[in-house]
Amino acid sequence: MTKVSISLNDPIGTINPNIYGHFAEHLGWCIYGGVWVGEHSPIPNTGGIRNDVVAALRKMKPAVIRWPGGCFADDYHWQDGVGPRAQRPRRVNIHWGEVVESNEFGTQEFVRFCRMVGAEPYIVGNVGSGTVRELREWVEYCNFPGDSTLARQRAADGSPEPLNVTYWGVGNENWGCGGSFSPEDYCTEFRRFATFVRGFGKQLYVIACGSPGNDLEWTTRFFRKLRKDYWDFRNLHGYAAHYYCGTAGTATEYTVDQWYELIARGLYMEELVIQQRAAMDAYDPSRKIGLIVDEWGTWHPVEPGTNPAFLFQQNTLRDALVAATTLDIFNRHADKVVMANIAQTINVLQAMILTQGEKMLVTPTGYVYEMYAPHQGGTSLRTVIESDTVTYTAGGKEQQVATVSGSASLKGKVLFLTLTNAHATDAVEVTVDLLGGAQATGGTARILSGEIHTHNTFDAPETLTPCPYAIAASGASFIITLPPASVLAAEIAIG
Ligand code: AHR
Repeated sequence: MTKVSISLNDPIGTINPNIYGHFAEHLGWCIYGGVWVGEHSPIPNTGGIRNDVVAALRKMKPAVIRWPGGCFADDYHWQDGVGPRAQRPRRVNIHWGEVVESNEFGTQEFVRFCRMVGAEPYIVGNVGSGTVRELREWVEYCNFPGDSTLARQRAADGSPEPLNVTYWGVGNENWGCGGSFSPEDYCTEFRRFATFVRGFGKQLYVIACGSPGNDLEWTTRFFRKLRKDYWDFRNLHGYAAHYYCGTAGTATEYTVDQWYELIARGLYMEELVIQQRAAMDAYDPSRKIGLIVDEWGTWHPVEPGTNPAFLFQQNTLRDALVAATTLDIFNRHADKVVMANIAQTINVLQAMILTQGEKMLVTPTGYVYEMYAPHQGGTSLRTVIESDTVTYTAGGKEQQVATVSGSASLKGKVLFLTLTNAHATDAVEVTVDLLGGAQATGGTARILSGEIHTHNTFDAPETLTPCPYAIAASGASFIITLPPASVLAAEIAIG
């Protein structure tokens, strides 16, 4: 029997909308072709930014978008991407296929894109190959409200008013493509760079590069060095780990065992969140510094025939299950996770949207973001899930994964409940118990479900979309039946 017990009187914390963040890099067709087509494109656009993509993203409500990388960030010099477009330099994107970067899409275009979709911009500075001065001046260009040369440059570029960018990352993956630093050396660099990241009257949110996966040694060494040498250092607000759960089979071809294997690898995020936060707590017990996961998702072999450096992959119901179970983890740990950014928004890795010329489709993962959006800003409620497990074989060994996962949040008198059934072939009856004297007085739901390989293609873009799903939510205890391989989002009225 599967039981989900929700304690209405046991709040965990507010679900930070930034948990529903995205990541968009100058990589493959994410920016060029995905976001940006240019003002003269026959593809409908507003000032060069695709209208269809903006409309689709607005429904998903990404609270924050991280840019310009990724590895690209530590080889990006922001002055290349401002000023008249025709005069911007052409550079080589050394990380992603050595393609020529036209710099048509730069700071102004990025912030405009964010405002169009309703997201806050999160800019990652260049530590690996950039200078402190470059980063300090980038912040001034974006945010200084007075009459400096850089503020005038911004005005000449079309924004007399400050762009008001709050979120600033100090490098990306500085243990690897961002400069191959040790945690101690990166800590020194971080302090030096962050010292000059000034708010110009605005409170900024400064983010340090964190752990490769769940690397507790990196985190401990970074914070130990920070504390030992300069514990009064206060210009650090977030610390960001990256975790990719990888693949099993390919994006669209996998066995039932591989279906479960990948879902189980996605669920490892919970261990990462608990352990990384505990490692941070040892140095920051009052949690002044927030835990962020600013890159996460599946990583499959690229679509056959596409450039391997472009990381263009299809996205099936399996990716939707990974997205949903991961977002449920972030919701359940709303006291620990302050931001998360799935990789990446469009055409790269676990994308929400795929484009091909003028064609566009929303992936199963994109629909999960749409379905889960009501959790943003809700109060996460303690949710205990007693689930059966299913057995599968991976690496020659029998393993088990929980069938049902989920999370619950409350806004006023509306309980928002999301549930997944990972079972490839069997429906599951879930008993939902509301603890604390609450009574359900009705509810509506939507479901995303199908055969485990189901996905959308450019010829059949609506093969998998969320459908209305009837539930009988009444009283303190009721049953919801989840079809096999499904993601459900329910709004339940509380009397
Ligand atoms: O998202 C693709 C790449 O994965 C990013 O550029 C890098 O930060 C990570 O290794």
